[in-house]
Order: sequence, then structure tokens, then C-alpha cells
Amino acid sequence: MIVVTGATGGLGSQVLKYLLTLVPPSEITVSLHNPAGLPEHLQASGIHVRRGDYGAPETLDAAFAGADKVLIVSYPSIAHELRVRNHVNAIDAAKRAGVRHVYYTSLAFGYGTKPESCAAVMQAHLDTEAYLKKSGLKYTIIREGIYNESYPLYFGFFDPSKDNEVFVPGDGPIAWACREDLGEATARLLALPPSDSRFDNQTILFSGPQANLLTLAQLSTLISNILGREIKLNIVSIDEYVQKHLDPSGQNVRGTEDFLRKWATTFEAMKRGETAIVDPLLGEIVGRPLKTMEQSLREQLSAHGEGVAIEQYAK
Ligand SMILES: NC(=O)c1ccc[n+]([C@@H]2O[C@H](COP(=O)([O-])OP(=O)(O)OC[C@H]3O[C@@H](n4cnc5c(N)ncnc54)[C@H](OP(=O)(O)O)[C@@H]3O)[C@@H](O)[C@H]2O)c1
Repeated sequence: MIVVTGATGGLGSQVLKYLLTLVPPSEITVSLHNPAGLPEHLQASGIHVRRGDYGAPETLDAAFAGADKVLIVSYPSIAHELRVRNHVNAIDAAKRAGVRHVYYTSLAFGYGTKPESCAAVMQAHLDTEAYLKKSGLKYTIIREGIYNESYPLYFGFFDPSKDNEVFVPGDGPIAWACREDLGEATARLLALPPSDSRFDNQTILFSGPQANLLTLAQLSTLISNILGREIKLNIVSIDEYVQKHLDPSGQNVRGTEDFLRKWATTFEAMKRGETAIVDPLLGEIVGRPLKTMEQSLREQLSAHGEGVAIEQYAK
């Protein structure tokens, strides 16, 4: 039995979609924060649907019961302690349930000989990785590539409906990867037979391909070409970045000074090359060309859905 958490979300829904092509539905359980959020066709697909709230460990005991493998999709929050606590709850519950192998979706800041990061967003992942490694459980930590779809967060919270310029406190290359490719590769890992031990107790990197290694300056050129108007990238100080994006109403989480100062560390990490590591594994596992950033940008910019997407990533 394979248990997938977060299957109503952007990444988890792709994992589930591909997992259903690889293993019988009767061998898949989804552990959901809000089971009603699962689309009807999936409710009726023959998979098991259980409630599992990272904040309520007793629900995880029931949700993970009988599982051989559990995919823990990271909790969508920038609140460090809450995020780590929720991941610890899930790891502890997997241990109580006798799960054979836990997979954790970490993030692609740093890797290999330089696995650490100065990015605030990475710290909860590093703490979770350390806890999982010490748990005694068999694990695979997947440093999932930075989503093509999340580019507005990095590109000065760009809103194509009104912005002609954006302001960021630094630049550096990112090996962008799309959520569908990441979801498919993650599903393929989950579906491997127990005899395949290549990824046991490993930390792996799913990055985008070399062709997707793009700086924000290069993104501004691509976006300007697609939109047919110049979108100017301004590299500014952290103070100016904070001032530009402050929301005095306090209604917008990413408009608070606390969030903006923390998020500014992302750009320092980019400058240091933490997001520039390209690994061929993602392409090898999906066995087909990966989606380019240009394709994703064309789709997102023609859909005009960015306002919604950015809220999703700023929780
Ligand atoms: N790699 C990247 O570039 C990148 C970019 C942005 C974010 N991320 C992070 O990667 C993770 C997955 O991304 P995503 O795009 O799939 O995020 P997402 O679309 O926000 O999905 C998050 C999932 O977590 C579930 N969830 C929320 N609260 C929960 C709880 N208390 N217990 C259990 N599950 C809970 C949600 O369920 P409900 O829908 O029922 O609430 C949803 O299924 C998130 O942590 C996200 O912050 C990664």
C-alpha cells in the first residue's frame, strides 16, 4: 500500500495522476487534510481516501495504517516551527504505523557537497531532513526542483496585468522544473519494487535540465518577448525591496516586513548558486524531454491566472 499526502495540491495531484498509471488503485491511499477537496473522479477511482491532518497526529495513525510506503508532501507554510512540527508528526506517525519507506518532498536549495542553505524557506526542510535521517526509517529525501509555476514569487511577485517592471534584491540562476514532471518522477520512485534499492536512504535532486537554468534577467527577456512589451528587472537593496512590496493593510501575508525580509534570503541563496545545480536524474526517470520554462511561461501568461497562483505560494 502506498500512501500519498497532499494529493489535493499542485505537486501531490500530479503524483497521484501518474501513480494511478503505475499501480492498481486498490494499492493507493490518499491521506488528506480535506478529503472533500479530492475531485469526484478520483473519489470514484478505487483508491482509498482517508483523513490525515499533520496537525492532528491521531488522524495520521489511521491514515497511514497498513502502509508500506508514505509520501510526505511538505506542509505549505513559511512558519518554520509549525512546518517542522507537522513534518515531525507525520514522520512519527509513519514510524508508529510500521511504514517500510518514507519519501519526503524537500526543496532544491543546495545539494551534494553543499547541502546547506542560507534561504529561510529551506530551513524547515533541513530540520525535517535531519529528523527523518535520525528516525531509523528507510527514507528517500527528494529535493524537488523550483517550480516553473512559482516564478512570480522569485520574479518580484510579478503581475502581468499591471506590472511593467519588477524589483528584486539579487539574481542568480535557477534550474526550473515543472510540477507535472516532478510529480511524474516522484510517482515513478514510489512505484519502484522493494528490490530496487538505488534510492534507499538517499537524498536526491530533481532539478530542471540545463536548458532551464535561467536567471531572473533571462526570465525578464523571455517574459518581455512573450508579452510583447518590456518588463524591466531592477536589482535593488533589501530595504528597497521591502519598501516596494510592503502592504500596510497587513492583509497580504507576503506584504509583511517579516515575510519580505525572510524571502529576501532566497535571492542571496540564488546568488551563491544554491539553485543552479543541474542533475540529469529527473529527465532520466521520466524518460522524455522535460517541459521548458518558456512553455510554462507561455501557458501561465496566456491564462492570466497568476494572481491566484501567487497566493497559493505565499501561504
Ligand atoms: N518546489 C517549489 O518550487 C515549491 C514552490 C512553492 C511551494 N513549494 C512547497 O512544496 C509543497 C507542495 O507544493 P504544492 O504546490 O503541492 O502545494 P499546495 O498546492 O499548496 O498543496 C499543499 C497540500 O498540503 C495539504 N495540506 C495543507 N494543510 C495540511 C495539513 N494540516 N495536513 C496535511 N496536509 C495538509 C493541502 O491539502 P488541502 O488542500 O486539503 O488543504 C494540499 O494538498 C508545499 O509545502 C509548498 O509550500 C514548493
